[in-house]
Amino acid sequence: MEDVEENPGMGNLRLSAVEFRAIASLIYDNFGICLTEEKRGLVMGRLQSTLYRRQLRSFSEYLEQVRQDRSGAMLSELVNQISTNHTSFFREQSHFQFLQQKALPDVLTRLQQQRRRDLRIWCAACSSGEEAYTIQMSVMKSLGLQYQSLDAGLLATDISAKVLSQAVQGIYGADRVGDIPANYVQSFLKEQPDGSYQIIDRVRDEIMFRRFNLMNAAFPFKPFQIIFCRNVMIYFDATTRLNLLKRLHHCLEPGGYLFLGHSEAINPGTTPFINLVPAVYQRRLES
Ligand SMILES: C[S@@+](CC[C@H](N)C(=O)[O-])C[C@H]1O[C@@H](n2cnc3c(N)ncnc32)[C@H](O)[C@@H]1O
Repeated sequence: MEDVEENPGMGNLRLSAVEFRAIASLIYDNFGICLTEEKRGLVMGRLQSTLYRRQLRSFSEYLEQVRQDRSGAMLSELVNQISTNHTSFFREQSHFQFLQQKALPDVLTRLQQQRRRDLRIWCAACSSGEEAYTIQMSVMKSLGLQYQSLDAGLLATDISAKVLSQAVQGIYGADRVGDIPANYVQSFLKEQPDGSYQIIDRVRDEIMFRRFNLMNAAFPFKPFQIIFCRNVMIYFDATTRLNLLKRLHHCLEPGGYLFLGHSEAINPGTTPFINLVPAVYQRRLES
Protein backbone atom coordinates (compact mmCIF):
# COMPACT_ATOMS: atom_id res chain seq x y z
CA MET A 1 0.00 0.00 0.00
CA GLU A 2 1.28 3.49 -0.83
CA ASP A 3 2.07 5.98 1.94
CA VAL A 4 3.22 3.43 4.53
CA GLU A 5 5.97 4.86 6.73
CA GLU A 6 8.00 2.01 8.11
CA ASN A 7 9.82 2.03 11.43
CA PRO A 8 13.14 0.36 10.80
CA GLY A 9 14.01 -2.35 13.28
CA MET A 10 10.45 -2.77 14.51
CA GLY A 11 7.86 -5.27 13.43
CA ASN A 12 4.95 -3.18 12.17
CA LEU A 13 1.65 -3.73 13.93
CA ARG A 14 -1.22 -4.11 11.51
CA LEU A 15 -4.08 -1.62 11.48
CA SER A 16 -7.27 -3.45 10.51
CA ALA A 17 -10.02 -1.80 8.46
CA VAL A 18 -12.25 -1.70 11.54
CA GLU A 19 -9.57 -0.12 13.72
CA PHE A 20 -8.78 2.38 10.97
CA ARG A 21 -12.44 3.41 10.73
CA ALA A 22 -12.53 3.93 14.51
CA ILE A 23 -9.45 6.18 14.37
CA ALA A 24 -10.87 8.03 11.35
CA SER A 25 -14.15 8.67 13.26
CA LEU A 26 -12.26 9.97 16.26
CA ILE A 27 -10.27 12.36 14.05
CA TYR A 28 -13.35 13.47 12.11
CA ASP A 29 -15.49 14.06 15.20
CA ASN A 30 -12.82 16.08 16.99
CA PHE A 31 -10.95 17.87 14.20
CA GLY A 32 -13.15 17.68 11.08
CA ILE A 33 -10.34 15.95 9.13
CA CYS A 34 -11.61 13.27 6.72
CA LEU A 35 -9.38 10.22 6.42
CA THR A 36 -10.33 8.00 3.52
CA GLU A 37 -9.42 4.31 3.29
CA GLU A 38 -6.37 5.06 1.13
CA LYS A 39 -4.82 6.82 4.16
CA ARG A 40 -4.86 3.58 6.19
CA GLY A 41 -1.20 2.82 5.38
CA LEU A 42 -0.12 6.34 6.26
CA VAL A 43 -1.94 6.27 9.60
CA MET A 44 -0.57 2.83 10.38
CA GLY A 45 2.99 4.00 9.68
CA ARG A 46 2.73 7.26 11.57
CA LEU A 47 1.40 5.63 14.73
CA GLN A 48 3.84 2.71 14.93
CA SER A 49 6.37 4.51 17.13
CA THR A 50 3.63 5.63 19.55
CA LEU A 51 2.37 2.06 19.98
CA TYR A 52 5.93 0.83 20.40
CA ARG A 53 6.77 3.53 23.01
CA ARG A 54 3.61 2.72 24.93
CA GLN A 55 4.32 -1.01 24.61
CA LEU A 56 0.92 -1.67 23.11
CA ARG A 57 0.17 -4.86 21.24
CA SER A 58 -2.60 -3.64 18.97
CA PHE A 59 -4.33 -0.55 17.59
CA SER A 60 -7.45 -1.57 19.52
CA GLU A 61 -5.50 -1.24 22.79
CA TYR A 62 -4.22 2.13 21.61
CA LEU A 63 -7.73 3.34 20.77
CA GLU A 64 -8.97 2.27 24.17
CA GLN A 65 -6.24 4.36 25.84
CA VAL A 66 -6.97 7.42 23.71
CA ARG A 67 -10.68 7.20 24.54
CA GLN A 68 -10.01 6.82 28.26
CA ASP A 69 -7.47 9.63 28.49
CA ARG A 70 -9.52 12.42 30.02
CA SER A 71 -6.64 14.92 29.78
CA GLY A 72 -6.96 14.91 25.97
CA ALA A 73 -3.16 14.63 25.70
CA MET A 74 -3.29 11.40 23.69
CA LEU A 75 -5.85 12.81 21.29
CA SER A 76 -3.68 15.86 20.86
CA GLU A 77 -0.64 13.67 20.19
CA LEU A 78 -2.72 11.70 17.69
CA VAL A 79 -3.65 14.77 15.66
CA ASN A 80 -0.01 15.96 15.76
CA GLN A 81 0.95 12.70 14.06
CA ILE A 82 -1.90 12.56 11.58
CA SER A 83 -2.21 16.13 10.35
CA THR A 84 -0.44 17.26 7.20
CA ASN A 85 1.58 20.37 7.95
CA HIS A 86 3.06 21.15 4.56
CA THR A 87 3.65 24.90 4.20
CA SER A 88 6.19 27.43 2.93
CA PHE A 89 7.05 31.13 2.98
CA PHE A 90 5.20 33.20 0.34
CA ARG A 91 3.08 30.18 -0.64
CA GLU A 92 0.60 31.28 -3.35
CA GLN A 93 2.51 34.52 -3.76
CA SER A 94 -0.22 36.50 -5.54
CA HIS A 95 -2.13 36.57 -2.24
CA PHE A 96 0.58 38.66 -0.60
CA GLN A 97 0.60 41.10 -3.51
CA PHE A 98 -3.18 41.41 -3.13
CA LEU A 99 -2.75 41.89 0.61
CA GLN A 100 -0.27 44.74 0.11
CA GLN A 101 -1.84 46.41 -2.90
CA LYS A 102 -5.56 46.06 -2.23
CA ALA A 103 -6.64 44.61 1.12
CA LEU A 104 -4.35 46.59 3.44
CA PRO A 105 -4.90 50.03 1.84
CA ASP A 106 -8.66 49.42 1.86
CA VAL A 107 -8.70 48.29 5.50
CA LEU A 108 -6.53 51.26 6.55
CA THR A 109 -8.78 53.73 4.76
CA ARG A 110 -11.80 52.30 6.58
CA LEU A 111 -9.98 52.41 9.92
CA GLN A 112 -9.08 56.04 9.30
CA GLN A 113 -12.70 56.91 8.42
CA GLN A 114 -13.82 55.24 11.64
CA ARG A 115 -11.02 56.95 13.62
CA ARG A 116 -9.66 53.59 14.71
CA ARG A 117 -6.13 52.20 14.99
CA ASP A 118 -6.73 48.48 15.58
CA LEU A 119 -5.52 46.35 12.68
CA ARG A 120 -6.56 42.77 13.39
CA ILE A 121 -5.37 39.81 11.32
CA TRP A 122 -5.86 36.06 11.90
CA CYS A 123 -3.81 33.31 10.34
CA ALA A 124 -5.92 30.20 11.01
CA ALA A 125 -4.16 26.82 10.54
CA CYS A 126 -0.72 28.45 10.48
CA SER A 127 1.30 25.22 10.70
CA SER A 128 4.98 25.85 11.57
CA GLY A 129 4.69 29.62 11.15
CA GLU A 130 5.91 30.36 7.61
CA GLU A 131 2.52 31.75 6.54
CA ALA A 132 2.09 33.92 9.64
CA TYR A 133 5.58 35.37 9.28
CA THR A 134 4.98 36.00 5.57
CA ILE A 135 1.83 37.97 6.43
CA GLN A 136 3.53 39.92 9.21
CA MET A 137 6.62 40.75 7.13
CA SER A 138 4.40 41.83 4.21
CA VAL A 139 2.37 44.11 6.48
CA MET A 140 5.45 45.64 8.10
CA LYS A 141 7.21 46.09 4.75
CA SER A 142 4.14 47.71 3.27
CA LEU A 143 3.38 50.06 6.12
CA GLY A 144 6.91 51.02 7.15
CA LEU A 145 6.89 53.60 9.94
CA GLN A 146 3.08 53.86 9.78
CA TYR A 147 2.96 50.42 11.41
CA GLN A 148 4.10 51.93 14.73
CA SER A 149 1.13 54.29 14.81
CA LEU A 150 -1.31 51.37 14.68
CA ASP A 151 -2.46 49.03 17.37
CA ALA A 152 -1.73 46.05 15.12
CA GLY A 153 -1.46 42.37 15.86
CA LEU A 154 -1.55 38.97 14.25
CA LEU A 155 -3.18 35.93 15.83
CA ALA A 156 -1.82 32.66 14.42
CA THR A 157 -3.48 29.38 15.39
CA ASP A 158 -3.24 25.68 14.64
CA ILE A 159 -4.51 22.46 16.16
CA SER A 160 -1.06 20.89 16.35
CA ALA A 161 1.05 21.79 19.38
CA LYS A 162 4.08 20.30 17.65
CA VAL A 163 4.06 22.74 14.72
CA LEU A 164 3.17 25.65 16.99
CA SER A 165 6.30 25.12 19.06
CA GLN A 166 8.37 25.36 15.86
CA ALA A 167 6.43 28.48 14.85
CA VAL A 168 7.14 30.25 18.15
CA GLN A 169 10.88 29.72 17.72
CA GLY A 170 10.81 31.11 14.18
CA ILE A 171 13.98 29.25 13.17
CA TYR A 172 14.17 27.83 9.65
CA GLY A 173 16.86 26.02 7.67
CA ALA A 174 18.50 27.82 4.74
CA ASP A 175 16.52 25.54 2.37
CA ARG A 176 13.22 26.92 3.78
CA VAL A 177 14.04 30.61 3.44
CA GLY A 178 14.84 30.46 -0.29
CA ASP A 179 11.30 31.63 -1.13
CA ILE A 180 11.70 34.85 0.85
CA PRO A 181 12.73 37.88 -1.28
CA ALA A 182 16.29 39.01 -0.52
CA ASN A 183 15.23 42.43 0.79
CA TYR A 184 12.87 40.74 3.29
CA VAL A 185 15.63 38.40 4.44
CA GLN A 186 17.84 41.43 4.98
CA SER A 187 15.19 43.32 6.96
CA PHE A 188 13.55 40.55 8.97
CA LEU A 189 15.82 37.50 9.36
CA LYS A 190 19.03 36.90 11.23
CA GLU A 191 21.50 34.22 10.17
CA GLN A 192 22.47 31.83 12.98
CA PRO A 193 25.97 30.39 13.52
CA ASP A 194 24.74 26.98 12.24
CA GLY A 195 23.55 28.47 8.93
CA SER A 196 19.83 28.49 9.81
CA TYR A 197 17.83 31.71 10.02
CA GLN A 198 15.69 33.18 12.78
CA ILE A 199 12.90 35.70 12.29
CA ILE A 200 13.92 38.82 14.22
CA ASP A 201 12.22 39.68 17.53
CA ARG A 202 10.59 42.82 16.11
CA VAL A 203 8.48 40.55 13.87
CA ARG A 204 8.05 37.62 16.27
CA ASP A 205 6.84 39.91 19.06
CA GLU A 206 3.90 40.99 16.89
CA ILE A 207 2.47 37.48 16.52
CA MET A 208 0.49 35.56 19.11
CA PHE A 209 0.67 31.81 18.42
CA ARG A 210 -2.12 29.78 20.04
CA ARG A 211 -3.60 26.30 19.84
CA PHE A 212 -7.14 26.52 18.46
CA ASN A 213 -9.45 23.96 16.89
CA LEU A 214 -11.35 25.28 13.88
CA MET A 215 -14.11 22.80 14.78
CA ASN A 216 -14.93 24.73 17.97
CA ALA A 217 -18.58 25.71 17.87
CA ALA A 218 -17.79 29.29 18.84
CA PHE A 219 -14.92 31.52 17.77
CA PRO A 220 -14.41 33.76 20.80
CA PHE A 221 -12.55 36.50 18.96
CA LYS A 222 -13.19 40.17 18.32
CA PRO A 223 -13.79 40.38 14.54
CA PHE A 224 -10.79 40.65 12.24
CA GLN A 225 -10.34 42.74 9.10
CA ILE A 226 -8.28 40.02 7.42
CA ILE A 227 -8.32 36.23 7.79
CA PHE A 228 -6.04 33.72 6.10
CA CYS A 229 -7.43 30.18 6.35
CA ARG A 230 -5.57 28.39 3.59
CA ASN A 231 -5.02 24.76 2.71
CA VAL A 232 -6.88 23.28 5.64
CA MET A 233 -10.43 23.04 4.25
CA ILE A 234 -9.16 20.50 1.71
CA TYR A 235 -9.12 18.04 4.62
CA PHE A 236 -12.76 18.72 5.53
CA ASP A 237 -15.99 17.51 3.90
CA ALA A 238 -18.53 19.85 2.28
CA THR A 239 -20.73 20.24 5.36
CA THR A 240 -17.79 20.94 7.66
CA ARG A 241 -16.43 23.49 5.16
CA LEU A 242 -19.72 25.32 4.88
CA ASN A 243 -20.12 25.52 8.66
CA LEU A 244 -16.56 26.79 9.02
CA LEU A 245 -17.16 29.44 6.35
CA LYS A 246 -20.19 30.69 8.29
CA ARG A 247 -18.12 31.03 11.47
CA LEU A 248 -15.31 32.77 9.57
CA HIS A 249 -17.86 35.15 8.06
CA HIS A 250 -19.08 35.95 11.54
CA CYS A 251 -15.48 36.59 12.62
CA LEU A 252 -14.82 39.14 9.87
CA GLU A 253 -15.76 42.80 10.04
CA PRO A 254 -18.07 43.92 7.20
CA GLY A 255 -15.78 44.60 4.22
CA GLY A 256 -13.15 42.25 5.70
CA TYR A 257 -11.03 39.91 3.55
CA LEU A 258 -10.84 36.11 3.58
CA PHE A 259 -7.95 34.28 1.89
CA LEU A 260 -8.43 30.56 1.16
CA GLY A 261 -6.08 28.08 -0.53
CA HIS A 262 -6.16 28.11 -4.33
CA SER A 263 -7.71 24.64 -4.46
CA GLU A 264 -10.38 25.61 -1.93
CA ALA A 265 -12.42 28.01 -4.06
CA ILE A 266 -15.99 28.36 -2.85
CA ASN A 267 -19.09 29.10 -4.82
CA PRO A 268 -19.99 32.61 -3.66
CA GLY A 269 -23.61 31.81 -4.54
CA THR A 270 -23.77 29.43 -1.59
CA THR A 271 -21.96 31.74 0.87
CA PRO A 272 -22.30 35.36 1.93
CA PHE A 273 -18.95 36.39 0.38
CA ILE A 274 -17.97 38.33 -2.74
CA ASN A 275 -15.22 36.65 -4.78
CA LEU A 276 -12.56 39.25 -5.70
CA VAL A 277 -9.71 37.29 -7.29
CA PRO A 278 -8.93 33.55 -7.17
CA ALA A 279 -9.39 32.32 -3.58
CA VAL A 280 -9.79 35.83 -2.10
CA TYR A 281 -13.21 36.80 -0.75
CA GLN A 282 -14.76 39.81 0.95
CA ARG A 283 -17.53 40.04 3.48
CA ARG A 284 -20.16 42.37 2.03
CA LEU A 285 -20.07 45.83 3.61
CA GLU A 286 -23.77 45.73 4.30
CA SER A 287 -23.91 42.15 5.61
C1 LIG B 1 -1.39 21.91 4.99
S1 LIG B 1 -1.25 22.86 6.46
C2 LIG B 1 -1.54 24.49 5.82
C3 LIG B 1 -0.63 25.52 6.45
C4 LIG B 1 -0.79 26.94 5.90
N1 LIG B 1 -2.10 27.47 6.16
C5 LIG B 1 -0.47 27.02 4.43
O1 LIG B 1 -1.38 27.25 3.61
O2 LIG B 1 0.69 26.84 4.07
C6 LIG B 1 -2.78 22.50 7.30
C7 LIG B 1 -2.75 22.85 8.77
O3 LIG B 1 -4.08 22.77 9.28
C8 LIG B 1 -4.02 22.31 10.62
N2 LIG B 1 -5.35 21.80 11.00
C9 LIG B 1 -5.96 20.66 10.58
N3 LIG B 1 -7.16 20.51 11.17
C10 LIG B 1 -7.31 21.60 11.98
C11 LIG B 1 -8.34 22.01 12.86
N4 LIG B 1 -9.45 21.30 13.04
N5 LIG B 1 -8.17 23.18 13.54
C12 LIG B 1 -7.04 23.92 13.37
N6 LIG B 1 -6.03 23.56 12.56
C13 LIG B 1 -6.16 22.41 11.87
C14 LIG B 1 -2.92 21.26 10.58
O4 LIG B 1 -2.38 21.00 11.85
C15 LIG B 1 -1.92 21.89 9.61
O5 LIG B 1 -0.90 22.59 10.28
